[in-house]
Amino acid sequence: MNKLTIIIFGASGDLTKRKLMPALYSLFYNNRLDKEFIVIGISRTSFTDETYRDYIRQELNQFLDATVLNEELINKFINHLYYETMDPTTVEGYFRLSDRLSQFNGCDDFGNYLFYLATPPSLYSIIPLFLKDVGLNTKHSRIIVEKPFGYDLQSALELNRIYESVFEEHQIFRIDHFLGKETAQNLLAFRFANGVFEPLWNRNYIDYIEITAVENIGIADRGGFYDHVGALRDMVQNHLIQLVALTAMEPPALFNADTFRNEVVKVYNSLTPLEHVDFEEHIVRGQYTAEYNKKGYREEKGISPDSRTETYIAMRLEISNWRWSGVPFYIRTGKQMPTKVTEIVVHFKETPHQMFHCDKGKCPRANKLILRLQPNEGIVLRIGLKVPGAGFEIKDVTMAFDYNQLGGIPSGDAYARLIDDCIQNDSTLFTRSDAVEASWKFFDPILEYWKSHPDSPLHGYPVGTWGPLQSENMMHEHHAEWTNPCKNLIDTDKYCEL
Ligand SMILES: NC(=O)c1ccc[n+]([C@@H]2O[C@H](COP(=O)([O-])OP(=O)(O)OC[C@H]3O[C@@H](n4cnc5c(N)ncnc54)[C@H](OP(=O)(O)O)[C@@H]3O)[C@@H](O)[C@H]2O)c1
Repeated sequence: MNKLTIIIFGASGDLTKRKLMPALYSLFYNNRLDKEFIVIGISRTSFTDETYRDYIRQELNQFLDATVLNEELINKFINHLYYETMDPTTVEGYFRLSDRLSQFNGCDDFGNYLFYLATPPSLYSIIPLFLKDVGLNTKHSRIIVEKPFGYDLQSALELNRIYESVFEEHQIFRIDHFLGKETAQNLLAFRFANGVFEPLWNRNYIDYIEITAVENIGIADRGGFYDHVGALRDMVQNHLIQLVALTAMEPPALFNADTFRNEVVKVYNSLTPLEHVDFEEHIVRGQYTAEYNKKGYREEKGISPDSRTETYIAMRLEISNWRWSGVPFYIRTGKQMPTKVTEIVVHFKETPHQMFHCDKGKCPRANKLILRLQPNEGIVLRIGLKVPGAGFEIKDVTMAFDYNQLGGIPSGDAYARLIDDCIQNDSTLFTRSDAVEASWKFFDPILEYWKSHPDSPLHGYPVGTWGPLQSENMMHEHHAEWTNPCKNLIDTDKYCEL
């Protein structure tokens, strides 16, 4: 096989400088790239090879983790970079690209190409067709496509059709960087490498599950992009639903790309369809509003003053199978929340009989397990124990494990891990076409409903709060409430002090 050639479309963009180049450098640093690899950056902004190298050198100094900064190695890495100024929407540039690849690889060109699409999603349907036109879709090539893969079910089906007409499914890597995170993978280890929890992991012992992925920033400069997307497409249809799958899936018989992804798709196909759901009760959407000196969403740059794009969504899902029937999954995501956190909270059922008296109105509470994916990655189990002294006062205490305790092992970057997997042709942690379709099939009715009911509620919530009150009400029917975590790992069960 001739040398690995990584071709990044969108090479002048934010994702390339903040994530992709640092990830490639990290692979280089760890000797994960073969000696003669080449990276060719492509975008319309005019650079020469030299000026592009200077630009990336500067950005690496800004975005690399201090622990891996090494000037000599950065210079060596930079020497593998090249640049081609081209407009990816016309065929001319692809002929030039093809010539350049032949120059690099000579007559031994087996087409060991890795294309990375880090462009606006509108180009995802165009670039593969041009690659095919000039014969760059070789049998050894692979293509990584950023999210969002599709805008709704129809567009996702169309995109899949285009990709399948250019590449084989095993060459297509639909990336969701959530799955590249160590802590997401640890969820699988936690569930399937331990015998203790799995027997409890079902409707007999679990009352309800919460999944939260929120952040304490707004849309920054990405208004033009975000206003056409919103929280459902940006976070729920891909990231949150992946977390639902990891939490709810059956253990695969073997751990490989097919068996793992088969189980993911089974979860998506078991979600109780939304057709018969009261949308306004089960799905709460919100938009952040101004507070103190913080702008509301409609005041942000690039956002229309009457925009109805949701920056928050909470919803109740159910899974119709023997393991989960009757156990609600409450999921939520939002911008401008009090903190940035991604976590899964498993609420176990109360003991069938309470033999201890409640003391001053405080009764022993049900056990709760918190799996924190970011930040302060760790696991907390809440249990009730006796307070020393007379009587039997039961107090909630926590057993906490912090991933830092594993000590000395850097948690690794999600992009580096996933690019490495792609180079090794391992697609386990990438989304398969049937999963994309199953997920859109489930969520499409929400988009349809919002479109056909333009007056359906969009609740305001002030910047820095936990979203609309209606999302609390949504859980009351199950006597449930959201766990609103503070910044530290130990759950306080209270609203955070800001
Ligand atoms: N940034 C992130 O953290 C992040 C995270 C997850 C997913 N993503 C996804 O990754 C993709 C890239 O995101 P980004 O934040 O890097 O975007 P960005 O900063 O706007 O960069 C877009 C890139 O595409 C190029 N481009 C080529 N043709 C274009 C055209 N016709 N119109 C506009 N740009 C064109 C731009 O360069 P020229 O203008 O020089 O051609 C630029 O290099 C998006 O699909 C996004 O959803 C981004």
